[in-house]
Amino acid sequence: MDASTTVALNDGVETPRLGLGVFQVGPDEAAAAVRTALQAGYRMVDTASVYGNEKGVGRGIAESGVAREDVVVVTKVWNDDQGYDATLRAFDASAAALGLDYVDQYLIHWPRPRLGLYPQTWRALCRLRDEGRVRSIGVSNFEPEHIERLIAETGVAPAVNQVELHPGLHQGRIRAFHADHGIVTQAWSPLGRGQGFLSHRAVAAVAEAHGRTPAQVVLRWHLQLGVVPLPKSVTPERIRGNLDVFGFELDAAEMDLLTDIGDGYRVGPDPSLLFDVS
Ligand SMILES: NC(=O)c1ccc[n+]([C@@H]2O[C@H](COP(=O)([O-])OP(=O)(O)OC[C@H]3O[C@@H](n4cnc5c(N)ncnc54)[C@H](OP(=O)(O)O)[C@@H]3O)[C@@H](O)[C@H]2O)c1
Repeated sequence: MDASTTVALNDGVETPRLGLGVFQVGPDEAAAAVRTALQAGYRMVDTASVYGNEKGVGRGIAESGVAREDVVVVTKVWNDDQGYDATLRAFDASAAALGLDYVDQYLIHWPRPRLGLYPQTWRALCRLRDEGRVRSIGVSNFEPEHIERLIAETGVAPAVNQVELHPGLHQGRIRAFHADHGIVTQAWSPLGRGQGFLSHRAVAAVAEAHGRTPAQVVLRWHLQLGVVPLPKSVTPERIRGNLDVFGFELDAAEMDLLTDIGDGYRVGPDPSLLFDVS
């Protein structure tokens, strides 16, 4: 496995094993981070309309010198744009902001079950895929029940589900469901968004044993779980270091050490709770 290794989605499209995240990054900083990442060998970038930086992401791709067709661009329809027609309009706005005529992965950002619009939103994504404007369609923060409803109503399973996942939150139930349905798990906040996982003594011990950074061993843990991590950084040295995770391996005991840090620690909202993220 190296930085160019891909995984096949359930629609046959290949996707990289790791991508750059740009949450809470302004457009100019996003352009610089994307340019740095693509020039360092990244081939996937994760943004969302609500991040407000799609223009910057598009600029970074254009400035990187990497061919458009070699880059997997992920963006997401925001909660306020759910529903069939609103989603089609939101997609047009995202594609225009990115400066792209197609998007590689278009995801529903949150299910918002009380709003009840996610099946219609999903139908709009199916249409965009059928029209070739999106290569793969997926979801984010969906629980198995939400995905089951999509499959029951449309017969189409998402290619990916992007969820919070790191050594403090393993998402075992969701990963098992994904395995049964051929859905690729993407990890958001894979580094725990600065909440202390990187300085945990277990991470430090494994990092020291391999002569690697804490972030590198945490990202390696994701890869060996079969998860696609989307680490965010605007720091060029970290951007490059976070991709350099293909040349070493954690043994079973080291995987357990990181897994044993705990489970159930969230840095973001819990989609299973009875409130809507807006
Ligand atoms: N679908 C969703 O609902 C959802 C929600 C949240 C996030 N996401 C996606 O997932 C991506 C990643 O999640 P995240 O941004 O929340 O958090 P994260 O990637 O877990 O952590 C980012 C933080 O870690 C720092 N960092 C990065 N590399 C590091 C390294 N090698 N050593 C030490 N610190 C390092 C970054 O600092 P610097 O930038 O200063 O280097 C930043 O403060 C997002 O950017 C977004 O694309 C999706």
